[in-house]
Amino acid sequence: MTNVVRDVLGKRFIVLLLLLSMAAGTVGIVVSRNLANAAEPVQLPTFNIPPVSAEFEASEKPNVLVIATGGTIAGAARNGDKTNFQNYAAGTYTMADMVAQLPVHKTADVSTFQFGNKGSGSYTIKDLYDLSLAVDTALADYDSVVVTTGTDTMEEIAYFLDLTVRSEKPVVVTGAMRPWDVIGTDAPANLYQAIKVASSNKTKWFGTVLMLNDVIYAAREVTKTNAHRLDTFDAPMFGALGYVDDPAVRIYRAPARAIKAGTEQWATPFDLKTISKDSLPIVEIAYSYQEAGGGAIRGFVEDGAKGIVTAGTGAGGISSKMSQARSAAIQQGVVFVTTTRTGSGTMYDSGTGATIGGDNLNAAHARMLLLLSLAFTSDLPTIHSWFQSFGTGDVEISVDENTVLKTSVEEEAEEPVVEVPASEEPSVEPSAEPSAEPVVTEPVETAPAVEEPVGAH
Ligand code: SIN
Repeated sequence: MTNVVRDVLGKRFIVLLLLLSMAAGTVGIVVSRNLANAAEPVQLPTFNIPPVSAEFEASEKPNVLVIATGGTIAGAARNGDKTNFQNYAAGTYTMADMVAQLPVHKTADVSTFQFGNKGSGSYTIKDLYDLSLAVDTALADYDSVVVTTGTDTMEEIAYFLDLTVRSEKPVVVTGAMRPWDVIGTDAPANLYQAIKVASSNKTKWFGTVLMLNDVIYAAREVTKTNAHRLDTFDAPMFGALGYVDDPAVRIYRAPARAIKAGTEQWATPFDLKTISKDSLPIVEIAYSYQEAGGGAIRGFVEDGAKGIVTAGTGAGGISSKMSQARSAAIQQGVVFVTTTRTGSGTMYDSGTGATIGGDNLNAAHARMLLLLSLAFTSDLPTIHSWFQSFGTGDVEISVDENTVLKTSVEEEAEEPVVEVPASEEPSVEPSAEPSAEPVVTEPVETAPAVEEPVGAH
């Protein structure tokens, strides 16, 4: 086959792929370059994300795009039984229908994009690669994005987005514990409140946050703690970032990564546009317990796992059989991360070796970070450094010698302070020059504590 024939066939193949994807509707493909291997083209998906409408362009409200993936929030009661919260068809309603059923949003112009409509657990890691790129594509035009997903693996999806989305604009993940159309559903309220958080812009530079039940959490920290309750999400060791109480979106603390806002260090190394989704490796989780066997680890390695996270007992300990299997796997080049099955606690990293301390990431979060790390490098010291930087929520504030921190009160007191020895009486002389611009005190408007009346309890 000549090069010309090969080129023509190659182009035809790409055109065929493009046509197939356009026919599929939501996802297309464009060809980019794999920076890790410049010879290999990367096929990047494209998305039929709706442009901001002329009406919304003209309006003052921020433009929020809701990217829907399904889950209970889009669930429909089965057999018309609107009292059953457990037996329903998840991922039934489209986001366009759901937003149309909400009252017109007070703080946002809302558009929708249906990425998919199924349970959270049905998405593959390659789907998450597409989802992340869809979020970044949307944020090129929209002010912020809400992603709706099922709650079962929401913490994993949210952390994957947190680690990969390049834009600093707000990304808010939400879902619901009760389907859209049953009595006492939390679905419309969660959707409305998540849009409110996104449109507030208050989580810009926070990375991905999660909002359910009026509580806002950092994606890195949050976990689902109960199979059924509406207040299932929690951040052990950390707590919430803030709350949504009409009309307020109150943020009480920032996640560690927000400290790097506006710097190059804010962005993670995980720019998905530079890798093919085929290079996302298999990474698994092995759970330890009384006399746990080594079979799980051996099986994962046999299935091609490049990394394994252990969810150990207490401070990350694993059984001796698991430990033997881990040593054998390390000989085969598998990288391990230690976490605890207790639900909280920090695993400190020695900085060397093929077993990395997962800080206080839970096993599901640590798996996402290890998976992305192994997709971008096989260099162990680099992976250690990523776990100690992006994986660790360690806050360190440094101010260089050229930076002068001033309070607003200090900024007004421009004149140098002259120290007078205690024995000397200061001589008070009227100054010939007016010392400074006269200070004009504007009357201060006192805002009512609550801008809108709160409904009676
Ligand atoms: C799912 O995760 O898709 C089902 C459960 C839920 O959304 O709460």
